Amino acid sequence: MEVFFWEWSTYAVRWIHAIAGIVWLGFFFHTRELDRAMLRYSATQPNAVGEAWSIRGFGIYRTVKYLSKQDDMPSEKLLVWYKWPNIFTIITGFLLLILIYYSQVELYLTDVNVYVFPAWQAISLSVFGILLALIIHESLYRTPLKRNEKIILLINFTFLTGLSFFYSLFFSGRGTFMQMGATLGLYVTSYFFINILPSLHKLLKDPANGQPSPEKMQWFLMRARHNNYLVLTVVFMMLAMHFPLAHSGHYSWVIIPLIIVIGAVIRHYFDTLHETGKRLVWPWTVAVCMALSVIFLSALGSVAHQASRNIVGSTQPFSLSAETILLSRCSMCHARNPAWVGINLPPNGVVLETKDDMEHWAPEIVKVAVLSNAMPPGNITGITQEERVQLGQWLIGNTSNEENILFE
Ligand code: HEC
Repeated sequence: MEVFFWEWSTYAVRWIHAIAGIVWLGFFFHTRELDRAMLRYSATQPNAVGEAWSIRGFGIYRTVKYLSKQDDMPSEKLLVWYKWPNIFTIITGFLLLILIYYSQVELYLTDVNVYVFPAWQAISLSVFGILLALIIHESLYRTPLKRNEKIILLINFTFLTGLSFFYSLFFSGRGTFMQMGATLGLYVTSYFFINILPSLHKLLKDPANGQPSPEKMQWFLMRARHNNYLVLTVVFMMLAMHFPLAHSGHYSWVIIPLIIVIGAVIRHYFDTLHETGKRLVWPWTVAVCMALSVIFLSALGSVAHQASRNIVGSTQPFSLSAETILLSRCSMCHARNPAWVGINLPPNGVVLETKDDMEHWAPEIVKVAVLSNAMPPGNITGITQEERVQLGQWLIGNTSNEENILFE
């Protein structure tokens, strides 16, 4: 019973995290859309700085924007605050880190083939790494460099690429993706609490002097633009946790900066289109080139490719049959009654006990254990490259092996 309680609780947190994230992203895009729409209309209300008209949800909406407190405004308590999805996204994000990554460090965060260190050190590196990256990011925008947008974008990008490489020296591919996803996710969601919320409170408290200076307004606009460049990547990183080809190859850490570029140029295309009506071609050229590089890197970095460089042509006979490999490296977790402590049900419903089971799951096994090294998690059962290649040959049928029954 307890097992079911925990499994469902973790799933509930995932559910809330996804919902809060979707609502947050919706509000984020909507605010940008309103601000852009305001460029099209002139404000007609006294004191207003902008006005936007829209039609949706069975009605015509007129949104008026003020940069100061208005006399006819309802009380602060009655104002609709758009901060709850932010709060819930951050809280449930950290809860998921604890429930999934920090409670099973050796499965999700570390990899015995990458670096061996105690769980508490891995957790400390993860937590302090995420917080330190946020402090560095926020500090960067407070240095004189903030006046040069191109330089600041370049520094951000270089820092994130370096960070991705750094984490790949200590964490598994999946752990590195999680670290980078959490870092970027926190950049964009905490921005509101660190920068916007204090300014809004000032605006409400001091109607005469609470308005940000024109330089500060420019700064806010730049920050919103940069966050907007990152949001597509954050969504990619969260979904990629369930996509082993992205997170568990040799070059996964390079894939992260490439995805950042893809996310940014696509957002830049839509920003330009909505602001000026211009349809830029270069963002799509860059996005397609980067996407092809991602696919190429994921193939080049696949376990099968890496291992085959060492093994193809070897005359050494394989000692174990593919079936034995699965039974000795996978079945302790992927069983109807798993023997692995902490795994109570076959993970994701994948059971690998009999030949029939293995045949049934063959295409999935190829993805997680031959084309990537996602399984066994953190290579906790010590599968070798040779065994992966042998599995691949057995599953995909590169040889005339008698066992080569799958995919035919
Ligand atoms: C230590 C326990 C453990 C071992 C050993 C293990 N797995 Fe897994 N496996 C898991 C867990 C946990 C998940 C669920 C991962 C998740 O939710 O992202 C999983 C998920 C999977 C999935 C489903 C992937 C998906 O995205 O739905 C497949 C297929 C799989 N494992 C195959 C294997 C193979 C093949 C091996 C042996 C080479 C193996 N596993 C070894 C724990 C294990």
